[in-house]
Amino acid sequence: MPTAGTPAPRVVLGVSGGIGAYKAVEVCRRLVEAGVHVAPVLTPDALRFVGKTTFSALGSEPAQSSLFEEASPIPHTKLGQSADLVVVAPATADFLARYAAGMGGELLTATLLATRAPVLVCPAMHTEMWEHPSVQENLDTLRRRGVSVVGPEEGALAAGDVGVGRLADPATIVSVALVMLGGRGDLQGRRVAISAGGTREPIDPVRHLSNRSSGKQGHALATAALRRGAEVVLVTTVGRPVAAQPRLSVVRVDTAAEMEAAMAVESDKADVIVMAAAVADFRPRQVATHKLAKDDGVPEIVLEPTPDILCGLVARRRPGQVIVGFAAETGDAVERGRRKFDRKGVDLMVVNDVSAPGAGFDHDTNVVTILTSGGTREVPLSSKEVVADAVLEQVVGLLAGRDGRAGAPRAEED
Ligand code: C5P
Repeated sequence: MPTAGTPAPRVVLGVSGGIGAYKAVEVCRRLVEAGVHVAPVLTPDALRFVGKTTFSALGSEPAQSSLFEEASPIPHTKLGQSADLVVVAPATADFLARYAAGMGGELLTATLLATRAPVLVCPAMHTEMWEHPSVQENLDTLRRRGVSVVGPEEGALAAGDVGVGRLADPATIVSVALVMLGGRGDLQGRRVAISAGGTREPIDPVRHLSNRSSGKQGHALATAALRRGAEVVLVTTVGRPVAAQPRLSVVRVDTAAEMEAAMAVESDKADVIVMAAAVADFRPRQVATHKLAKDDGVPEIVLEPTPDILCGLVARRRPGQVIVGFAAETGDAVERGRRKFDRKGVDLMVVNDVSAPGAGFDHDTNVVTILTSGGTREVPLSSKEVVADAVLEQVVGLLAGRDGRAGAPRAEED
């Protein structure tokens, strides 16, 4: 973001006067790094915690903090009208009260009155203040008006206190902000179903067969698709909670059979299917109803093949649907991946040499080769987010080709 030829989306980053203001510096930096034009607006009390110079240096334009002393005589209307999104981090109890009441006595609240852009507030305050009914009622009012809220989280607060009230992690705030901006992206109006993680095939009530997949690549694909504006369904075996994001629904599954059922439901509605999950190839033919005990001797576990979910999805493909498979390989990975591409009938095969340093299971980075019917694209060692974007770029090209629009797949011809 932004894609070539489109102007950078504009975010007004509002900072109100709480100790979490120092973390807004990181939010500013990360948004700019993601290609966003950031206009920082600090309330007078925010200036007690952080300096305007910091935000002017890291933002895309000089930080502003006054309705009357800035270069423009009407800074709030200009800021509000040109914003694609307003993010307020941290949002203090006092700020939330003034915003909910529709007050416009300082630049940030006046800008919020003057904007029609979506708004994301990130509350941060001490637990007692957070739990106060007036704060919760103000937030309810704002939510009813369509304002999105991220956080607060539980953790260390100012003055050695611990509890709920800590500003959400800057990475989370930026991720949600980018998803909110994604409504303008090249997957807008598309439905993308993504599977992620290793399946778990039960042996008995306490044991299972699984693999080392972390689900990170599939989850990175979900975030990247959201940022491009898609409606995303993430069918995942990953237990840790996925941060709520606009346009995302999550289906938790464990076994290959559960994943097959969930993906079958989604495939009837999806424009794009990405099978990034590491589906077990075999499962115990029988699942013991009681825990297998050592005293009963070494068990013999008879395995049977799991259904090939990807092949099933290809067989029931909707017209125009783009289907992406992953192939974790070692050795002559691309050759083996090409054979798998032909056998499975997919549109894209993302070949992952899991023996390459920094690639594959549990790493934050990956090395892949993307195969299409006409070409290959190498993605050298990169973050899983960058790999996800490279895959989706190919998907967007294929969708455009099927719609008869410009933008054929951009893999180089073999
Ligand atoms: O054949 P292989 O397991 O290498 O194929 C990998 C691709 O097939 C991945 O996209 C994976 O999600 C999918 N797969 C599947 N069902 C299986 C095994 C793999 O959908 N039982």
